[in-house]
Amino acid sequence: SPIPELYKRRPRPPYVPGRISDPDYVRIFDTTLRDGEQSPGATLTSSEKLEIARNLAKLGVDVIEAGFPIASPDDFNAVKQIADVVGNEIFDDGYVPVIAGLSRANERDIQRAWDAVKGAARPRIHTFIATSDIHMQRKLNKTPNEVVKIAVSAVKFARGLGCDDIEFSPEDAGRSDPEFLYRILGEVIEAGATTLNIPDTTGWNMPWEFGTLIRMLRENVPGAENVVFSTHCQNDLGLATANSLAGALNGARQLECTINGIGERAGNASLEEIVMSLALKGDEQFRSGPLGSGRLYTAINPVYITSTSKMVAEYTGMKCQPHKAIVGANAFQHESGIHQDGMIKDKSTYEIMTPESIGLMRGDSQSGAGIVLGKHSGRNAVGTRLRELGYNLDTDKINAVFARFKEVAEKKKGGLDDDDLESLVSDQAGYVN
Ligand code: KIV
Repeated sequence: SPIPELYKRRPRPPYVPGRISDPDYVRIFDTTLRDGEQSPGATLTSSEKLEIARNLAKLGVDVIEAGFPIASPDDFNAVKQIADVVGNEIFDDGYVPVIAGLSRANERDIQRAWDAVKGAARPRIHTFIATSDIHMQRKLNKTPNEVVKIAVSAVKFARGLGCDDIEFSPEDAGRSDPEFLYRILGEVIEAGATTLNIPDTTGWNMPWEFGTLIRMLRENVPGAENVVFSTHCQNDLGLATANSLAGALNGARQLECTINGIGERAGNASLEEIVMSLALKGDEQFRSGPLGSGRLYTAINPVYITSTSKMVAEYTGMKCQPHKAIVGANAFQHESGIHQDGMIKDKSTYEIMTPESIGLMRGDSQSGAGIVLGKHSGRNAVGTRLRELGYNLDTDKINAVFARFKEVAEKKKGGLDDDDLESLVSDQAGYVN
């Protein structure tokens, strides 16, 4: 079927560190292989990471954070392999993804990250240090002045290695003093940082607070016009996607996220939620944003969402809850009679996007898209399915089958499948197809 206007991809603007030539363009930075792998129990092998990285690139991700190279020799090797292979492949719109490696703000970590990513055509070093009072005092045991000095030296060291794409994150920015953020971020810009990523590390912010923080940083950090602002929102209050979108509304032009929203504790902002929100609402909701004049857009090709989600769930062992937005097994399922009746008449009564748009085929029993015949289903849904199965029953027979269907469905968890329906028809209507 024709691709709706909404999902048509617009050309991705050229990649320049620290600049986005189209103010409406939002970069997608995927950290499934780094923050996502930090989900308890989600360890990935190097070959699984490579395969996921290739899928992320096919999906259209701008920046792939491939791992934390100092963390282990395995992680180093996985990041290096991704940088050397996927970081030099040209994907379908002619784009070569940026490959990022995470490092704490010290020379050993940064050197290791650089050694891992430097084989990529577009290598990025992502370095971070905590800036909230609680982290500086209780975790780092450092004064704010010391933290600024460490951050500046780290960025200069990364620059000195020949890396021109440097992301700096003030960890726990969501609980940091904004005045201190203005100062440290201004200094790291001067030292050579090109992307400033603002993590709500503990998922503490409300969307309006986080949006205001991004706006205030853009207005008050000296040199802010020379960098790209980014969000990294954890999901401790279930607000990671909302906070990321609030960031975009206030001028962030890189959003960090993971497939299926996996990540530390309650996870991270989910790529599929962010991307589909922008695809569906990028226009009407974001038009009045401070930077862009038109509709916000990404380069993600949503038809690869389902396959990438399934791959990540399988390799990490982190299954999505059935009601997970966009990729959960129930996301395109309809059980109640009223909903099924609406769906039979017009699918847009209860679906705000098509399953096909995210690569899920309707009618394929494996796909999870469609009508589930269960105890809430109505006569119209049962009758329609019977007709689809080839039964041409008169009203009395449909009524008899439907009455028995209701009795069985009351007791059967998970609904009735086609075989169940066929036995009801032969029992109640004496009909064999
Ligand atoms: O949650 C966090 O603060 C992070 C940073 C390192 C970006 O993962």
